[in-house]
Amino acid sequence: MNGQQSSLNGGTSLKPVVAAKDLRQVYKIGNGFFREPGRLQAVGGVSFTVMPGKTLAVVGESGCGKSTLARMVSLIETPTAGELRLAGTDVVAASQAERKALRRSVQLVFQNPYGSLNPRKKIGAILEAPLEINTELDPGQRMDKARGMLALVGLRPEHYERYPHMFSGGQRQRIAIARALMLNPALLVADEPVSALDVSIQAQVLNLLADLQQELGLAYLFISHDLGVVRYIAHDVLVMYLGHTVEHGEKETIFSRPLHPYTQALLASTPGIVGSGAGLPRTPLKGELPSPLNPPSGCVFSTRCPHAIERCRVERPLLRALDARQVACHLAEQFTQPAALQH
Ligand SMILES: Nc1ncnc2c1ncn2[C@@H]1O[C@H](COP(=O)(O)OP(=O)(O)OP(=O)(O)O)[C@@H](O)[C@H]1O
Ligand SMILES: [Mg+2]
Repeated sequence: MNGQQSSLNGGTSLKPVVAAKDLRQVYKIGNGFFREPGRLQAVGGVSFTVMPGKTLAVVGESGCGKSTLARMVSLIETPTAGELRLAGTDVVAASQAERKALRRSVQLVFQNPYGSLNPRKKIGAILEAPLEINTELDPGQRMDKARGMLALVGLRPEHYERYPHMFSGGQRQRIAIARALMLNPALLVADEPVSALDVSIQAQVLNLLADLQQELGLAYLFISHDLGVVRYIAHDVLVMYLGHTVEHGEKETIFSRPLHPYTQALLASTPGIVGSGAGLPRTPLKGELPSPLNPPSGCVFSTRCPHAIERCRVERPLLRALDARQVACHLAEQFTQPAALQH
């Protein structure tokens, strides 16, 4: 029976593509001349897994540590602490050769594709560059693969001979996605991939990402400050504030019954979501984001939270399981009753 099950599952298909445990990134800043060197905790212990074919969206305001998390997961930066496994392999303990293979299995797509596409190279050459460096394919095989990828991302064969400036923003993001897929990665880390695009174009690129996920079984770590976008693409949602996870769970759970006051405020300030039955308070977020160099004691959100009590200012709430998700709020129980949210 067991043997039958494992063959049905293809053996490894149920392994997370990425598993992060208590990931931290601390930057040392200041040169000690103009000011004292300081420690800036950009990510303060974040854990999650992403399964094949699934999307985890990481959301939060500017500076909460989303891109830092993206850089750690895509092996651009080494975490200060914590554990990172890609396809089951411990990244920190991996050998040089293993790390090289792992790097290929995670690819990044950025907000501004123009900045990452060499303006002097034709699209064909841009797509084939990763194959030249990392594979034994001959020029004919590389061209076939590049042309196939153009079709897969909804571009035309003649685009192979064109330069990046000849494309629209949405098309350039398609090119960046195509390049990211050339080495058959298991995970795509997309850092605000549609934020610079017009809303109508955003929908097209999100549709493309959804189609590619279906077709290729890709996992996405999708970073966005826009819950409207996240609602469309995510399976799971992780809400960050000042480097910490405040709420993490399935999208439907989080959107229909947000338990953290920060998630509630983000949802309340997202057009088209308030009034959809969530019974959210309509007061959007007020006050300044504290400096990560001098984070509040106790709950990181306590300085802006409309519900904060004394305990919140002194005792950091741990992330804990409640009502089918993880939440870090001392008062979360009171929001499990929808009536408590009504104003
Ligand atoms: N290399 C670095 N050295 C020092 N501090 C950094 C570095 N990179 C990021 N930071 C700081 O770490 C914190 C998190 O930055 P990060 O870029 O990850 O945020 P973000 O959520 O991606 O923001 P945004 O939405 O604006 O892109 C910020 O306070 C930022 O100033
Ligand atoms: Mg960022």
